[in-house]
Amino acid sequence: MTWRRGLVFAMVQPMKALIAAGGRATRMRPITHTINKHLIPLANRPMIVNAIEKIVEAGITEIIINVNPGETEIQKALGDGSAWGAKIQYLEQQGGPKGVAHTILNAQHLIGDEPVLFYLGDNIILGSVKPFVEKFENEGLDCLLALSRVRDPQRFGVPEFEGDRIIRVLEKPKNPPSPFAVTGIYAYSSKIFDAVRAIQPSDRGEYEISDANTWIIQNGGKVSYQEITGWWKDTGLPQDLLEGNALMLDQVRDGNGPAFADADRHVSIQGFVDIGEGTMLGPNVLIRGPVSIGKKCKLSECYIGPYTSLGDGCIIENSEIEHSIIFEQASIQNAGRIVDSIIGQKAKVTDAKSTLPRGNKLIIGDNSVVEL
Ligand code: DAU
Repeated sequence: MTWRRGLVFAMVQPMKALIAAGGRATRMRPITHTINKHLIPLANRPMIVNAIEKIVEAGITEIIINVNPGETEIQKALGDGSAWGAKIQYLEQQGGPKGVAHTILNAQHLIGDEPVLFYLGDNIILGSVKPFVEKFENEGLDCLLALSRVRDPQRFGVPEFEGDRIIRVLEKPKNPPSPFAVTGIYAYSSKIFDAVRAIQPSDRGEYEISDANTWIIQNGGKVSYQEITGWWKDTGLPQDLLEGNALMLDQVRDGNGPAFADADRHVSIQGFVDIGEGTMLGPNVLIRGPVSIGKKCKLSECYIGPYTSLGDGCIIENSEIEHSIIFEQASIQNAGRIVDSIIGQKAKVTDAKSTLPRGNKLIIGDNSVVEL
């Protein structure tokens, strides 16, 4: 507080952001058996980095990240936020993943009475959230929702309109009342805490953010919405990752750039391709971007096609790969043509004919999908 001639000026605290990065990610198994969903690499960067970048770009540098109890990998990957000029604080969700809305109440002591930009860490967008934050601040709102027109609203929170006013938000309704998803980007005044305290867990046992939004609407809150017209993706399902990866690869613009060829090793690179240090190429390698290749990979006798990313230390030999995500240290040898695939860390894919007895030999984890 600042005292001046008997008047009290409240110091305006800068807005903070809360990123939800806990949850069970059951729909993303088997990948999430060994990696936290938010650290899944898209174009070789953990997906949650997209949220951090968007938040910082909107001018918010104090970030709280909600994690599951016992989580350590997210902290290791992101550190204190200085890489983005931000300050990151980590907060375990007491009692585990009790619902998206519960993460906000869990963080109340860190957010205080100030407004908060609430961001689901598995959402990725292309555009800026700056106009969204500005609208929230300029209009003195209690709740601002970011909507996106989708083909499958039943997978999301869906707004119901009366004229151009939202009268409630339904979580994953069988019969969606509008063609919009409420995306995982929200701005709230401190009214959100009353809302989450007032709601009850849903049939799936979670405190639903849609119920909290409905509560604010029905209890005198000033609520508005903004449509996201650019690209938005909730990475709820494995196939969403391929789409997200492709989108992020489209942003690869600082790689080798177009047209690189090494005639001696018969290496040809076309389009935008990002290649990490220590990666060895050739002989006979064609890479057609956008592609991201990590550090210390070895590629020979292979074709790497558009929208593929390879993590650090991958070995690719005598195979073709397109529109796929290959995690670090995977090896793919004599595997023919691989498309639309997600291949986990240290996985090995090779030709069934190279070892006896002949036939497909599989060691695959629970919930894996194999199309032979
Ligand atoms: O992405 C938009 C959708 O996100 C909204 O349209 C829905 O209204 C909203 O409920 C949410 O639905 P999802 O089914 O996608 O929520 P999910 O369980 O996947 O969790 C979203 C994020 O929140 C994810 O990054 C994990 C994190 N989370 C989730 C739960 C349940 C937590 O941090 N803690 C939790 O307890």
